[in-house]
Amino acid sequence: MMENQVLTMPRIGDMAPDFEAMTTTGKIKFSDYIKDSWTILFSHPADFTPVCTTEMSGFALDQKFFDDHGTKLIGLSIDSIHAHIAWVNNVKKNTGVLFEFPIIADIDMSVSKLYGMLQPGESETAAVRAVFFIDPAGKIRLIMYYPLNVGRNMEEIKRALIALQTADQYKVAMPLNWKPGEKVIVPPPKTVEEMKEREASDYEMVDFYLAKKDLA
Ligand code: BEZ
Repeated sequence: MMENQVLTMPRIGDMAPDFEAMTTTGKIKFSDYIKDSWTILFSHPADFTPVCTTEMSGFALDQKFFDDHGTKLIGLSIDSIHAHIAWVNNVKKNTGVLFEFPIIADIDMSVSKLYGMLQPGESETAAVRAVFFIDPAGKIRLIMYYPLNVGRNMEEIKRALIALQTADQYKVAMPLNWKPGEKVIVPPPKTVEEMKEREASDYEMVDFYLAKKDLA
């Protein structure tokens, strides 16, 4: 076990680290792949494993949702390109689901290490289940990490993506358990004048610092 090893961990607000890698759709330079688009980069521990198969299938089945939300998908695991291709074919043959998004073959673990996906206390040889939400400017906006034995929640991944995009579009924030269509939080006033405007508004208000409005 690698004791007290210092690993790089990209943080929210960092620019997404760049790299080149082989994927199931060919060689990519990540900065070119993510350019001017939302991107979700997600890792899985290993090909031909049950939880990973359900998760990758989940992303594939929601491909249209991600297309409709201007978001590219890209997967990763510490497996060879041959293993990836065999697994993609196997899942297609068994279930009819095709993983159209690229899957990075991170056989030398370089991308996993760069993105803090290799967490030795959990596994020294398999990436944890990470999800990086990257905005069109290339900035990391939200990070999820799940352990090897718990699959992610696709509804939460989709909700978080819509929340980020809506927050950016309307310059608002999202309250606990926010779902599309619900009221959003208006940023607190920065001047007394703004506070007075707020008091005269039709916002749902607990106090001047906690006000909600409809987006419609
Ligand atoms: C799985 O995807 O089922 C899995 C992968 C690695 C460790 C445990 C479970």
